[in-house]
Amino acid sequence: DWIMGDYISEAVAQIRAQVGDEEVILGLSGGVDSSVAAALIHRAIGDQLTCVFVDHGLLRLNEGDRVMEMFVGKLHAKVVRVDAAEQFLGHLAGVSDPEAKRKIIGREFVEVFKAQALALTASAAIKNGESGSRCVKGATWLAQGTIYPDVIESGGAKNKKAVVIKSHHNVGGLPEQLGLKLLEPLRELFKDEVRELGVALGLPYHMVYRHPFPGPGLGVRILGEVKKEYADLLRRADAIFIEELNNFVDEATGKNWYQLTSQAFTVFLPVKSVGVMGDGRTYDYVVALRAVQTSDFMTADWAELPYALLKKVSSRIINEVRGINRVTYDVSSKPPATIEWE
Ligand code: XMP
Repeated sequence: DWIMGDYISEAVAQIRAQVGDEEVILGLSGGVDSSVAAALIHRAIGDQLTCVFVDHGLLRLNEGDRVMEMFVGKLHAKVVRVDAAEQFLGHLAGVSDPEAKRKIIGREFVEVFKAQALALTASAAIKNGESGSRCVKGATWLAQGTIYPDVIESGGAKNKKAVVIKSHHNVGGLPEQLGLKLLEPLRELFKDEVRELGVALGLPYHMVYRHPFPGPGLGVRILGEVKKEYADLLRRADAIFIEELNNFVDEATGKNWYQLTSQAFTVFLPVKSVGVMGDGRTYDYVVALRAVQTSDFMTADWAELPYALLKKVSSRIINEVRGINRVTYDVSSKPPATIEWE
């Protein structure tokens, strides 16, 4: 629509004015905010933007490939994909405490991102020295998908604004450490507006209207110690759950159950239970399906998913994912339960 079109022209002009001919780095997570920020900045300055996408091995099924298809394949943006799965899993080995896992993942994320950011500024600087034809400057900007709700008035003096670092993709302190200036083009937008902007910029609906996904990813959806085997089983089970939520349409509203829930996912339980298959017994892992409805994620009700949907998901997971032989549905609301299991 024309209002959003005007907004994009204005935002693009502002980014161009701000950045000039300098280079920008952005941490792309595949989530709504960083994706929309990347698309907007790319619209404004094209190849002056380099996105860094860190795959920590705890993403959903084919998520990394999808991000690359969209940003490199369709938008033709520059994206450095860092496959750091082994590194993350290595550091997580033997660790089962949820907060310890979060700390490790957050710390590793900053390390990996920082190394990339440094390499990019350095390589740009070398290019700058070598090439006489075009003056390629080192990256001087760090872009982030900070949105208005992330920005709060601090209670402190001088009305200074403070940024709440809600996820490790917004890497607090890094701009200063690297001597980079901050570019935050979504700072004044609410989530709904960010989504509208994303659609107007040509991002696919499913990317822009995705449920929130925690920064530590599957790391907090695999209870206790994280292992690659568990992550692989969980990814496949979760993909089936999400696919069927999208397939099942509620007749009363015309919406599918992915749209009717605020967050839905699968949790891997590292316990084995007995089952039967053919003439034999199985002794395999259990998963829990979790789906909630909430307006603010502070309180949440478990979603009353149709039995037919639960039945389809359960039967598909057990038949298609060898290694899982039991599916349960979480009927706990928040409080006292939390949305995630860790
Ligand atoms: P809980 O489990 O506390 O979750 O009811 C509330 C919301 O926060 C998300 N969540 C996280 N997001 N890093 C994140 O970026 C985290 O460590 C984390 N833990 C929980 C959760 O997915 C839900 O949307």
